Amino acid sequence: MAQNLRFDGRVVIVTGAGGGLGRSHALAFGARGASVVVNDLGGSFTGEGASTRAADVVVEEIRAAGGKAVPNYDSVLDGDKIVETAMKAYGRVDIIINNAGILKDVSFARMTDQQWDIIFQVHVHGAYKVTKAAWPIFKKQKFGRIINTTSAAGLYGNFGQANYSAAKLALVGFTQTLALEGKKDNIYTNVIAPMAASRMTETVLPPDMLASLKPEMVTPLVEYLCHEDSTENGSIFEVGAGYVGKLRWERTGGHGFPIDRTLLPEHIQERWEKITNFEDGRATHPTSTQESMEGIIANFENVAGEAAAAGRPRVVSEDG
Ligand code: NAI
Repeated sequence: MAQNLRFDGRVVIVTGAGGGLGRSHALAFGARGASVVVNDLGGSFTGEGASTRAADVVVEEIRAAGGKAVPNYDSVLDGDKIVETAMKAYGRVDIIINNAGILKDVSFARMTDQQWDIIFQVHVHGAYKVTKAAWPIFKKQKFGRIINTTSAAGLYGNFGQANYSAAKLALVGFTQTLALEGKKDNIYTNVIAPMAASRMTETVLPPDMLASLKPEMVTPLVEYLCHEDSTENGSIFEVGAGYVGKLRWERTGGHGFPIDRTLLPEHIQERWEKITNFEDGRATHPTSTQESMEGIIANFENVAGEAAAAGRPRVVSEDG
């Protein structure tokens, strides 16, 4: 297939690009003409230590293949310094891939405040700091593409990852609000839940699975979403081993109780089947806070009135 999706003239920051998924993203952008800031703190996958080697090796790989790249060794907590590296080297920033991450897996019962806080620092505060520093540049140039990296653990929960799940889902909310705020300035933000073999997953997934989970099978979605041709914005994707799919919220039709009657837990119990039923043909897929509130606002009209007060049949909802 013709490789038309080029990034010539674009400057891409990839955080945590010294290995795993970030390395794959950085190499791919470099191969398609972008100038790449290869950021990596170079610590362990649990966040200990630091080294310049991780970023340097990837910069060398990009350059050896004829591409343009500079290293940056700052933590994402100093996101402004990473953006500064891009501005000093190339005078612009067009694309940010918030990918850096660590794990501190431990059951919630044994989790310390420190293990909770550091995960939020790196994943949430780190993505915030890098993006915040680039945002005015994106707004001014009326172009920006941002990819955040969530996880299945964030979307569905995972044993031993209360800190990581909470932080990763925070990035979904971050994505969806940036998507709204950036849209008028051609700044599009999306979030991926990848699955790939890396030092982060090599100890938890079986070897035969790891062999099918190449980071290079995640990166093309990232490239597409970051290209000027793509107008996808505020979306969540699951991606890995060549599979790419989009997620959305689903809400049951629910049940509306009369607004002028005392609502008791017994009423909820009585209607539980209907409140939780996704299969009765009434489920919807809200995409905004406005759509989220529709069911609630519609129920403002659900008044039982005098008839119910007098003990006659109650008007409780569309199906009684
Ligand atoms: P990895 O450990 O190979 O890569 C993460 C990179 O981030 C490392 O090179 C590390 O040095 C760097 N890093 C860590 N803290 C940093 C900091 N404060 N500042 C700058 N760089 C820092 O792991 P992998 O798997 O490539 O993970 C990449 C992202 O994808 C992470 O956000 C991870 O949570 C996410 N993810 C990965 C999955 C997978 O299947 N590999 C599954 C779901 C999410």
